[in-house]
Amino acid sequence: MPSLKGKDIISALELTREEVEHLYKVADELKQAFEAFGSLDIARNKVMITAFFEPSTRTKISFQMAMARLGGTVVDFLASVSSLAKGETDYDTIRILDGYDPDIIVIRQKKPGFPAEVAPWVKAPIINAGDGYNEHPTQALLDVYTISRELGKVDGVHIAIMGDLKYGRTPSSLSYLLSKFNDITIYYVAPEPLQIREEVIKNVEGKVRYELLNDIRELRGKPVDVIYVTRLQKERLPDPSMYESLKGSYRIDAALLKELFGDNIPIIMHPLPRTWELDTSVDPLPQAKYFQQAKNGLYVRAALIKEILGL
Ligand code: NCD
Repeated sequence: MPSLKGKDIISALELTREEVEHLYKVADELKQAFEAFGSLDIARNKVMITAFFEPSTRTKISFQMAMARLGGTVVDFLASVSSLAKGETDYDTIRILDGYDPDIIVIRQKKPGFPAEVAPWVKAPIINAGDGYNEHPTQALLDVYTISRELGKVDGVHIAIMGDLKYGRTPSSLSYLLSKFNDITIYYVAPEPLQIREEVIKNVEGKVRYELLNDIRELRGKPVDVIYVTRLQKERLPDPSMYESLKGSYRIDAALLKELFGDNIPIIMHPLPRTWELDTSVDPLPQAKYFQQAKNGLYVRAALIKEILGL
């Protein structure tokens, strides 16, 4: 049986299909257990530090809720009222947090590669909860879990990943995780300045089929099981005028989905938060899965914590 005990989770590229499938089994079991018992006590005496140097709602809270439901303790580092204001570096901050001997540190940071950089000298297992535009492996884990549980399979899936594929970190990690499965087709749908990064293509080349498209309408007539929409990453654009010129350049609503897919609307996913790219008219459709997707983060992250702690 694959074991993640004591491991860092830095990139979706490092996970194996066996590890992922095992995690999903554990996630299903924990979901049932949480529904039956509320909280468990298997992580008693274990402490997780959440160190988020960038804003977060879902990722941080679902990690914290997951640890709470497992019966462990969470200590939150709050960047906004920390010694960062006195000029302390993020590196020293992590060194100090690690010195208190937590059992896991979950890190979100602006600099691509930051978790990989500190992992060699941090004693605690590190979970990358997003490093700039680079990666967000636990988001990919919950995304693929959602696909698997909604469609009953991952192999053979046709997915359109749409929006800001260049400055977003969820399209890269999702592509990497899907590349562990068989017979995957990815349509990258984005206006030219937001198309998927070259390094992502390099990493999935030969492992998935892919097409680069500029507009969602080009999907008409193609088999599509999932549309995964992403927000324009305003905070990472090199120039603020770019936001104004690209705002509204891609968008789905219920009428457009009906027009393109008729009675065969694919499931709709989004890592959230959404802005203008996913209209609320989609929310009542049975294919709208983004709120369930966010909820699945709780079970998948609980499974990940359990496995890393070897519980
Ligand atoms: C994403 C992120 O932080 O990359 N949010 C999340 O974790 N669910 C997506 C985003 O911010 O657009």
